[in-house]
Amino acid sequence: MSNDKVLIFETTLRDGEQAPGASMNIAEKIRIAHQLAELKVDIIEAGFPISSPAQFEAVQQIAQEVDGPVVAALARTIEADIDAAGEALLTGDKTRIHTFVGTSDIHLSAKFGADRYGKTLEDKRDSVLKMVDRAVRQARAITEDVEFSAEDAGRTSVDFLIKVINVAIAAGATTINIPDTTGYCVPREYAALFKTVQERCTDINQVILSVHCHDDLGLAVANSLAGVLAGARQIECTINGIGERAGNASLEEVVMALHVREHLFGTKTGIETRLLTSTSKMVSAATGFPVPPNKAVVGANAFSHEAGIHQHGILKSRDTYEIMKAEDVGQDTEAIRLGRHSGRHGLFSRLEKLGIFVGSERKEGVYKEFVTLADRKKEIFDEDLVLLAQGQSGDGSVVHYRLDHLSLNCGTGRIPRAEVLLYHSSSDTSCRKAAEGDGPVAAIYKAIDMAAGSHHGLVSYGIRSVGEGKDAMGEVTVLISENGTLFRGIARHTDVLQASANAYVQALNQLEAFRASSGEEFASDGIMQSFGSEGG
Ligand code: KIV
Ligand code: ZN
Repeated sequence: MSNDKVLIFETTLRDGEQAPGASMNIAEKIRIAHQLAELKVDIIEAGFPISSPAQFEAVQQIAQEVDGPVVAALARTIEADIDAAGEALLTGDKTRIHTFVGTSDIHLSAKFGADRYGKTLEDKRDSVLKMVDRAVRQARAITEDVEFSAEDAGRTSVDFLIKVINVAIAAGATTINIPDTTGYCVPREYAALFKTVQERCTDINQVILSVHCHDDLGLAVANSLAGVLAGARQIECTINGIGERAGNASLEEVVMALHVREHLFGTKTGIETRLLTSTSKMVSAATGFPVPPNKAVVGANAFSHEAGIHQHGILKSRDTYEIMKAEDVGQDTEAIRLGRHSGRHGLFSRLEKLGIFVGSERKEGVYKEFVTLADRKKEIFDEDLVLLAQGQSGDGSVVHYRLDHLSLNCGTGRIPRAEVLLYHSSSDTSCRKAAEGDGPVAAIYKAIDMAAGSHHGLVSYGIRSVGEGKDAMGEVTVLISENGTLFRGIARHTDVLQASANAYVQALNQLEAFRASSGEEFASDGIMQSFGSEGG
């Protein structure tokens, strides 16, 4: 590989999905993986196969059907994890096993407290070195492309870090990742760590060095770039910077920094930057995490100018206040607004611009939904379209409940009363129930609970506006819990009460899907993987 190429290791589907509440269903993950391939990322980290059947399946399907990037699967330095990763990647063409272990004293004491790892810190370190050696060799027997990560490297004793890296390289690792797992480092010290590793590790020139930064202090992008200046040639990042806690380094920001300041860094990426905005929208729609308007590169305001003096400058020459072109990152400054008079051509070419390709068998269904929505809304915005196109694409899971009817009686001085008709697919029957509540949403949820014959703790209810103007859609996200497991429902509608009801029914469907899978092990973040399709 030429020394000026920086590889983009995309981990939205693994680390990104570890953001609380960001779980995606398999259909969404596959769609995103195809988009990442179009974006020309070098590596897609598709999941952590041992952590849940849904993760295993997602990695398997992505490895099987997504062409272009290397598909990576995460594994601890444990035999069963590596076996699972290898099995999930089996049918893939270009595959990588990414194995990791905690190396800081804090991680060693907390995770390897059991006596079988040794009594002293030194003993535990020796155990970890053996685990790394075994795991990397096992992974190398499966694939030639093996990455090793020293988790919490940012807080690891440098001497021990050097030892671990030497062992991983000797065992056959081809990429060495030095993660700032807790977002603790500042750019100068993170860069110094890379310099030290290059000076002190044996055969370091035979591997690619990688950065992986979390944003706990808002420094993930700055640290990643500092690592590149210090010799790293792979950046691990996520779309919109989603990820554990405060998130990971944002792909669009690191890529555009390297692109805009190419002379400073002396490096290149292979990213198709014009797809950055559509990819950001797709991930936002799938996770329900909005993109803040002031988000660098892909935010709605990233190329808007409010102040008169700025507008004046921009009208004369855009480079007075802009360091990159909106069109280079796929921000469509002249977005065509679609409405009820738009035809199929306008709809599908707009969707394609947004990076969403609708198969011919689904086109008619999507168009019909579009026409129905256009009758209710004056203008249709990009967010509406993303939702609409995705609403048509379920993942084939069985929907247990369907809300066939909702009516509400509420107003000043009245106790809100909701009536619902809920269809149960298991018995092929419908149940009509009415209930009163403190507010309309409480009344709806009570009526749905009665019709479903169950009651669940409502952990959170959130609503936000998607699209623009008064007739924007309301997006409702609901989390319910049963025995400590969380189930998410997310739905959008121009009528926010209908969206509230749909989101709740979707969460119930996820709970039923979980029950049907009889409580198989699910992802360690405690949030069940989403099985439902949008719209309830
Ligand atoms: O943050 C981290 O250390 C990780 C590892 C698994 C690479 O995500
Ligand atoms: Zn991470």
